[in-house]
Amino acid sequence: MNIPEFTAIKKTGRKLSMLTAYDFPTAQLVDQAGIDAILVGDSLGMVVQGKANTLPVTLEEMIYHTEIVRRAAQNALVIADLPFPGGHQSWVETLRDCSQIMKRTNCHGIKMETSFQQKEMVARLVDAGIPVLAHIGLLPQKIQMFGKYSIQRVQDELMRDALAVQEAGAFGVVLECVEREIAGEITQELEIPTIGIGSGAKCDGQILVLQDILGLSGRTPKHAKQYVDLHAAILGACEAYKKDVEEGVFPAK
Ligand code: KIV
Repeated sequence: MNIPEFTAIKKTGRKLSMLTAYDFPTAQLVDQAGIDAILVGDSLGMVVQGKANTLPVTLEEMIYHTEIVRRAAQNALVIADLPFPGGHQSWVETLRDCSQIMKRTNCHGIKMETSFQQKEMVARLVDAGIPVLAHIGLLPQKIQMFGKYSIQRVQDELMRDALAVQEAGAFGVVLECVEREIAGEITQELEIPTIGIGSGAKCDGQILVLQDILGLSGRTPKHAKQYVDLHAAILGACEAYKKDVEEGVFPAK
């Protein structure tokens, strides 16, 4: 899969699937399952590092995890998140961060939390050869401004954000927690694909955090669907191993 192929799927009417991954074995499985694109999200701060939010994730950590995931993925696009403060730095700093991620990981593109205010930044990155997946709606990197993960934009602003990032050259746009009908209107209006999370079924594709679908994140968010309870399976396996060791059942001889 490459970026133009990913974008072109919108025209075929087939829905795009995206999941996050942060390590080699799970990225391999996600890739083998035929998922179209893997996001190495800064959600790794919460689901891998156990931190309260995504803000502490560093550029080096993003590079570390993205390089691993990219080596595991044979077919899926691999997109890396631009960590906080994202595109809210100078042009030189933002270009340096994005190009470091791309040079050192060989990933296909960069996801950026953004809005119409960063249109110029997105356009300059695209011009430099950096494919940008824009992320609008609820922006987790703004958590400290709002105190909780809640709706941050009104309808008119969302359409304006979406049109601006498309005009700037983004190859797709993640819509996070955008009201279903608005997400549908944006999807109809845009030529580039919309990838929803908590934004209803009218988007061109969906993205979820891998740990949420596997039952490994502690609490499955309302917008996600848990397909397996790996928490219970792993806990059971560890307890059984402990029992075997204590009772001399393992090793058998
Ligand atoms: O960091 C992340 O994993 C994300 C997705 C949930 C969209 O931004």
